[in-house]
Amino acid sequence: MAKKYSSLLLFLLLLLDSLPNFNASPEYSRPPPRPAIFAGPTRSKSEPEQVHISLVGKDHMRVTWITSHKHETSIVEYGTSPGNYDKSSMTGERMSYRYFFYNSGEIHHITIGSLGPNKTYYYRCGGNGPEFSFKTPPSTFPIEFAIVGDLGQTEWTASTLEHIGSKDYDVLLLPGDLSYADTQQPLWDSFGRLVEPYASKRPWMVTHGNHEIETFPIIYRHGFRAYNSRWLMPYQQSGSTSNLYYSFDVAGCHVIMLGSYVDFDAQSDQYTWLQGDLAKVDRGVTPWIFVLVHVPWYNTNLAHKGEGESMRKSMEELLYNARVDVVFAGHVHAYERFTRVYDNKADQCGPIYMTIGDGGNREGLAMIFENPSPSISMFREASFGHGRLKVYNETHAHWSWHRNNEANNTFMADELWLKSFASSKSCLPHHEKFQEMKDEL
Ligand SMILES: [Fe+2]
Repeated sequence: MAKKYSSLLLFLLLLLDSLPNFNASPEYSRPPPRPAIFAGPTRSKSEPEQVHISLVGKDHMRVTWITSHKHETSIVEYGTSPGNYDKSSMTGERMSYRYFFYNSGEIHHITIGSLGPNKTYYYRCGGNGPEFSFKTPPSTFPIEFAIVGDLGQTEWTASTLEHIGSKDYDVLLLPGDLSYADTQQPLWDSFGRLVEPYASKRPWMVTHGNHEIETFPIIYRHGFRAYNSRWLMPYQQSGSTSNLYYSFDVAGCHVIMLGSYVDFDAQSDQYTWLQGDLAKVDRGVTPWIFVLVHVPWYNTNLAHKGEGESMRKSMEELLYNARVDVVFAGHVHAYERFTRVYDNKADQCGPIYMTIGDGGNREGLAMIFENPSPSISMFREASFGHGRLKVYNETHAHWSWHRNNEANNTFMADELWLKSFASSKSCLPHHEKFQEMKDEL
């Protein structure tokens, strides 16, 4: 009997294996998975490590780093030429956390500025250690975002990062699932070291995914201990009371980071905050609105199907009425682009939805999509890669998706020109329509 079942199982596995991948380009032969990476320490215990930067307000940058020693100074020295630090800052905070038997190093968060737009700064953390440099984003168009979710730390992650870093961009946006530490805290440190060459050069603006939750009954009920300590985002500046959702403006773009794993119903703080945040957007100042959220609201992959449905039902109307231009999600380890959608139907006034959860994590790709493909899904493929959004001006932006063909080369497998709602006559944001009617009276 057992033999009969095992033959049946073998047959099913073989059948699954032989199913066509509905979504790979026919000429593309997919490379195999690659092993996980553990990046160990390479500097002395007093030196800063895991350096990364993030935007704070219009012209400030938060510099974050970790030291093993508890008593290192929280200072950032910086200037516009190498080795010449004519400014310094000690404004910020430091923290550390415990997770069972793990004690984190000292996590320093120091804000520097004001900084000029589109300018390179050289900096040093804690008064010693190596020099780093970053470029600030421009104050106006054009601006280019690199966008990738579900990064993890495998050799595919390393090649995705290399591809991202090989061509200039201004800001990296990450819709959740960073380290895949999943409570193994040293993996957060390893992730910090792996991304440092990129995250110390350009601001990384992130939101959380399920792999950041790390709750444990009674002891760590609220979760996000490592994430909130290590990846502090500028939530206070946008009136949010939680590091788990916030917004920021950069060069004519209003970017909203939502939280899939925080309450989102109509009575929740996140909902009220989002409503207020959208109402404040001035399309004259930020013609583009982009939203990032971990769990996709639209998804034709069999992985995580329907998981974003309750959040979509709660918040979709807010985004629709505000005429959000694009919603980027992660979670599903594949790439998918939808047309403009509202309430499951193509709608010229709805956002374009994209899933970009293909950074290179250890769980592998989400290979099977619904078949036949629903008409609102325009392009889908289960491959690792990353996206680029170049916003040229108030009206036009170019989106491209770059598949990791091999570790050392990429292929632009999908692209699209976008037109902003700010330039649209037929799809004005509801409150602006209201304003227009008032003006006419
Ligand atoms: Fe996820």
